[in-house]
Amino acid sequence: MCGIVGYCGKEHCANLLIEGLKKLEYRGYDSAGIALEENNKIVVVKAVGQVKNLENLIKKSDKKAVLGIAHTRWATHGKPSLQNSHPHTDCSGDIALVHNGIIENFLELKKELLKRGHKFKSETDTEVIAHLLEEEYKKGKDFFTAFQKVTRKLKGAFAIAALNSKEPGVMVAAKKQSPLVAGITNKGFFLASDIPAFLKHTNKAIFFEDGDTVKITPKSIEIYNADFRKITRKVHTISWDISAAEKGGFKHFMIKEIFDEPQAVKDTLQTLPPDITKAFSLPLKEAKKIEGVYIVACGTAYHAALVARYIIEHFAKIPVEVEMASEFKYRPIHFKKNWLFIAVSQSGETADTLAALKNAKADGLKVLSICNVVGSAIVRESDYSVFTHCGPEISVASTKAFTCQLTVLYALALQLAYVQGAITKAEFEDLYQELLTLPELLKQTLKLENEVKKIAAKVYKSPSFVFIGRNASFPLALEGALKLKEISYEHAEGFAAGEIKHGPIAIIDKDVPVVALAPKSDLYEKMLSSCQEVAARGAKIIIITNTSVKNALDVPYTNEYLFPLVAATVLQFYAYHIANFLGREIDKPRNLAKSVTVE
Ligand code: AGP
Repeated sequence: MCGIVGYCGKEHCANLLIEGLKKLEYRGYDSAGIALEENNKIVVVKAVGQVKNLENLIKKSDKKAVLGIAHTRWATHGKPSLQNSHPHTDCSGDIALVHNGIIENFLELKKELLKRGHKFKSETDTEVIAHLLEEEYKKGKDFFTAFQKVTRKLKGAFAIAALNSKEPGVMVAAKKQSPLVAGITNKGFFLASDIPAFLKHTNKAIFFEDGDTVKITPKSIEIYNADFRKITRKVHTISWDISAAEKGGFKHFMIKEIFDEPQAVKDTLQTLPPDITKAFSLPLKEAKKIEGVYIVACGTAYHAALVARYIIEHFAKIPVEVEMASEFKYRPIHFKKNWLFIAVSQSGETADTLAALKNAKADGLKVLSICNVVGSAIVRESDYSVFTHCGPEISVASTKAFTCQLTVLYALALQLAYVQGAITKAEFEDLYQELLTLPELLKQTLKLENEVKKIAAKVYKSPSFVFIGRNASFPLALEGALKLKEISYEHAEGFAAGEIKHGPIAIIDKDVPVVALAPKSDLYEKMLSSCQEVAARGAKIIIITNTSVKNALDVPYTNEYLFPLVAATVLQFYAYHIANFLGREIDKPRNLAKSVTVE
């Protein structure tokens, strides 16, 4: 989704803003723009397509500005075009602003503004904000007060940053349901949709809350809450390493992030408190009372939740209901008392997950979030949070976040199992020890890359790709298919292996490669039968197992519930190499955004 970067301080900012936009490219965009304030004048430059197109258009003379806002647009209202790209300006051109989110009442606001003589240059919802600001400012208020008044008139989701050449040296901002964070340096302030935009310059960050309005000058930052009361917000120290936001010699972020997995899992495990009764910040008393678990998430995080259902039900023997956040709100669920609600999200900003979480909270459930971003909206709304320590995940296709989410969920399952008396302390310790070997197991698994690449070279022209699995490996089959679809744009589907004979087998023929997830377990023979069924229809079968059989991709041995955490890497390699052979734009696949901040 759209990316915002702003700077107000002592440094020449055009390059800082462009650099920031490049760090936000992973969010997905179709055009980019910048507004720089210099000599009481605002210069706006826009370009369709990549940020580098915009960079080439910025004049040397404009590069001395020390105040500016920039934006990458992911089209919602109106096609990708110069007119529709941000920043948008008012009729006079004195005011410029960038926006992320959707102004739901823009049509009625626009109608009134048109009646009052405003001239619109774009089809966007955003432009109404510029004209409303123009009107409010003319009433004689200072720019920030006028801006605060305008935010009251807007319905929907927004993160906004705005400038006014009549009040040089001031940047104003507002946040409601769209992410916005400030970076603090000793030379000034950044504003951004996400931390990587300024991480090179500072690791001190303030996360704004819904309803906040902000006034920034080179020397100060003033924050006002939804009641326009001046407040202070915590300054967080971000522990991410800058190099984690760089490709580090790899061709794509995705492959780099797959190789990050052993370290990311290690960091995640190390930060889970050793006292198992406190491992998830849940007081022991509460953990003991839990009778069931709801897990809500989207996309890859949803698949992690589905795998976790099998793991928690197996070890803790309590029921788990998993729901896609985007559908959750349409079900008139009568929440069961003493059930724990878990939201899983890499970004912590996914609007669907956030909305589901708010519903559950309003109904009195305790909410635990599993997130990668400290200070994100989902974390702030939760009663308890556990963090995955992946560092920034830049590739749109999630890889290391998935493995780390599963790591946390697996540890949670063991903890619940123990505190609820479903396993003994000795069993807990054995299982936890096995989990602690995961970073090493992942290192071993990374060695399979070449083998997977050779398979990808043979199958990448196939018209369709199928993945099958049973039990905890069934949702992994779904994730394998999602990963491949996302970055290769090819048709791929995941099925429960026992289900294919009930219909999906109709699509199998000699041109369809079938990946079969077959860990050693009581179901192994059944998985082999499913493989026979598809083999009989001519399909090429690629078996991922831990049983050391010949002609299979053999990952290190674990129990069958830990297998998805290890085998995920192989599926990620498979998707990556197929997409790479097809010459796809892997890190920024078409139509996709990293952080989906609209419902
Ligand atoms: C994963 O590859 C996706 N791009 C997407 O499905 C993602 O997992 C989903 O949008 C949820 O994001 P979140 O984890 O940041 O909430």
